[in-house]
Parts: sequence; structure tokens; C-alpha cells
Amino acid sequence: MRAKTAEVLGAQWGDEGKGKIVDVLSERFSAVARYAGGHNAGHTVIIGEHKFVLQLIPCGVIRPNCMGVIGNGVVLDPIYFLDEIDRVRKTGLDIDGRLFVSNRAQVILPYHRMIELAAETAPGRQKIGTTSKGIGPAYEDKMARSGLRIIDLLNTSLLKTHIEAACEEKNAIAHALFGTDPLDPAKMYDDYAAAAERMRPLVTDTGRLLNGILAKGGSVMFEGAQGTMLDIDHGTYPYVTSSSATAGGASIGTGVGPTAIGTVISVTKAYVTRVGGGPFPTEIHDAIGEQLRARGNEYGAVTGRPRRCGWLDIPLLRYSNQVNSAEWLVVTKLDVLDELEEIPVCIGYEIDGKVSDEIPADVRGLEAIKPVYTTLKGWRQSTEGVAEYDKLPQAARDYLAFQERESGAKIGMISTGPDRDHTIVLPEFAAALDGINA
Ligand code: GDP
Ligand code: IMO
Ligand code: MG
Repeated sequence: MRAKTAEVLGAQWGDEGKGKIVDVLSERFSAVARYAGGHNAGHTVIIGEHKFVLQLIPCGVIRPNCMGVIGNGVVLDPIYFLDEIDRVRKTGLDIDGRLFVSNRAQVILPYHRMIELAAETAPGRQKIGTTSKGIGPAYEDKMARSGLRIIDLLNTSLLKTHIEAACEEKNAIAHALFGTDPLDPAKMYDDYAAAAERMRPLVTDTGRLLNGILAKGGSVMFEGAQGTMLDIDHGTYPYVTSSSATAGGASIGTGVGPTAIGTVISVTKAYVTRVGGGPFPTEIHDAIGEQLRARGNEYGAVTGRPRRCGWLDIPLLRYSNQVNSAEWLVVTKLDVLDELEEIPVCIGYEIDGKVSDEIPADVRGLEAIKPVYTTLKGWRQSTEGVAEYDKLPQAARDYLAFQERESGAKIGMISTGPDRDHTIVLPEFAAALDGINA
């Protein structure tokens, strides 16, 4: 029997529309769990007049019967997190008693941001174009076994000694390397000890909680953050984030074992975007890129930075499907292509005169790629808000069929606008979801 779980993740460099898709699907799940990243994520959900941009809180909580879980793989700044909770409460959403945080998740503290900012702006350092939330340095501390976990945050004497020791070290490093002014450990302790008290009721062993839900016949959806090509191992290193954004991350980041991952649903835009630095083989450098950015409103949900836009990249999508064992694809933002006469799609990579579909591991290899394009017909007709497959223009269906055939995963859903209702669910996918919840 298949496990009653599904994983939703990003196929490319993030912002594929995971938030919207998790919202649509979470109706069917008992709990939705975040497993990686932190408030570098920005997941947008639009329901009629209401707009939510969630960074740490799983999008499933918008459904009144769905539990939200922040897994051990996440890095969390308690002050930021409490602000997000306050913001969500102000919208009238009642999340009391159904939002939980792993006692094993790592804490982001202000010195993580200080170190990141200093490193990103220092002359001669490789600039990644991060979200400046302290994500990388927090994961560095985790891996160096010098991080603070949520469980330790709740222990005031441990918190105090940790902050004092860490500030001494980080202040010295930041000052010596980057001339940065020191942070005050006493103030930091006061702020975070107060936040810890507010956090206390939400903190639990979420691995136990999730496995318990599954043991009782409930269902769990894993909400990915970032995207496959931002994954620390499989992405365009070093232009990546510092966590496992790919499918395997869900197990590590929640404590639900790999054989309990029922299916992987990979969200891909009908084109591709990237925010921040790093290689992007199919990036469009002319006015059409601007047009896509404007039509798709491609500005970062967290940082407001303009997103770089490019054409659909089949070798990249195939690689991403392989890394994730993706069974299903959800194609979002089809409507953004509505005005185009023709649509180039990358079908191969030319590197040093040879065509291949292998993704080079090194950045220089990635930058040397000359994409090989084929051109598909545009539909020049509005698909905005279309909710039935049969109402899509034939050329749009051909575009989707091409994407499905070439990428090797089945298309289960198509998104034609930001709203929850602007969604086409294909019958085979609906049946598969029914199967997961049966
Ligand atoms: P996420 O990080 O993967 O959750 O994606 P973001 O929320 O950062 O970015 C996706 C953006 O596209 C958001 O502003 C969504 O409201 C919007 N969006 C999602 N699906 C569609 C769609 O099918 N069409 C259009 N036009 N916008 C969409
Ligand atoms: P969601 O979940 C898009 C990018 C940053 C930068 C790199 C490293 O909304 O899809 P970090 O702050 O994580 O150390 O930055 O990763 N990045 C994202 N890009 N969507 C995201 O999340 C991202 N999270 C991180 O822009 O290039
Ligand atoms: Mg986003």
C-alpha cells in the first residue's frame, strides 16, 4: 500500500508557485509539513480578495482542518516567526492549536545575518545574491555542530551561555574580517528569551507527531521550499541555498522515513525564473524577458528583487525529475505565455561544440552552455483562469504535451492564474490523490 503522503517541491530555482499548489492540494491532507529552508522562502496564496505570503508557516494552515508543521530540517528565527504568526492572525485565520515547530529545528540568531551580510558585501568574496536572512550561516553552525536548536532555546541558562559564547566568536570574526560593529549579547538574550516563552507551546517532537498521524491513518503533505537547482548537493553550486530542497530532504527534514514518501509532485513554471546570482542557461536578455517579468509579476515575494526570466529548459527539468523521482508535474503560469506568437523551448545543451543533455557539475561548464532550442507555436488567446483542460487552446495543449513527453513525468495539474480557482486538475491525478487518501 502506498504511504498516505505526497511531496510538493520546486523543479527549478524556486518561486514555481508551490504555495498556490500546496493550498489547492492541502484540502485533502491532515497535515502539511515544511522540511527545509527558512524565511528565505516566500509562498504566495491568493483566494479571491485575500492574499497570503507565507515564509515559514506551511500554506496548509489556510485550510481550517489542516495542521501545520515546521520540521527539524528548517532554520527558524523565533522573532521573525512570531511576527509572521501575528500577521497571519490579523488576517482572521485561526491557527491556534494546529501549528507546531520541531524541537530539533535550528535557530537563526542575529549574528547569522551579520556574518552573511558582511560576507556577501566583502570585496573579493563570491556574491551569491542571498536573501540576507542568515540562512547559510545558520546551516553552517548546524553542520559544524555549534548551532542552537529550538529545544535549547527553551532552556534559558543554555540560551544565555550559547549567545554569549557565539557573540564573542562571531563579533570577533566579523570585526577582524569585515570591520563590522559588534552585536550586544545581553540584548540578544533578552529578546530571544522572551520569544522562546511565546514559542514554548508550539514546540514538540514533530517527527513523532507526523509518524503518529500516519499511524492513525491520517495523511501528510510535505511542502518544499526553494527549488531543485538551489539544492545544496544537486543545484548550481555554489549559487544555491544551504539546505536539501530536493525530494530526499523531506525525510531528513521531518523524521518521516523515505519509504513513507508516497509520491513526488514537482511544480514547474511554463517558463523558468531565477532570483539571485548564478548560471541560468535559458535566460532571456531582451525585451521578451521584460514582457514575461511584467506579465508574470516576477518580483521576489521576500526581497522584491526582479526575477530573471528564461525559456523552459527540458534537460534541466529531466534532471530535476530524476533527482526527485518526480512522478507528477504541475505546470504553473501557463497564462503568462498567452501573448507569444511562438515559444522557444530548450531541448539540449551545446558545450564545446557537442550537444548533450547532461547538466555540468561546475559553474563554468554551466555558463558555457549554448542552449539548443526548438520553437513551439504560441496560442495568442487568453488562458487566464481557465479551469477545464478542454477549454485550453490546442497550441497550449500541444505545449503541455511536449513538456510532459520530453520531461518524463506526467502532468497532473495546470495553473492558469494566481487564484486557488484558476486551476485544472487532470482526472488521472485526481484519482491518484483519491488513492493516497483512501
Ligand atoms: P513559491 O515560492 O513557489 O510558492 O512561488 P511564489 O509565491 O514565490 O511565486 C509565484 C507567484 O506566481 C505568486 O505571485 C503567485 O501568486 C503567482 N502564481 C502562481 N500560479 C500562477 C499562475 O498560474 N498564473 C499567474 N499569472 N500567476 C501565478
Ligand atoms: P521559495 O520557497 C527563489 C535563492 C536566493 C539566492 C540563493 C541563496 O519562495 O521558492 P539564501 O538566502 O537561501 O542563502 O539564498 O537562493 N533563494 C530563493 N530563490 N525562491 C526561494 O524560495 C528562494 N530561497 C532562496 O535568491 O540566489
Ligand atoms: Mg517564493
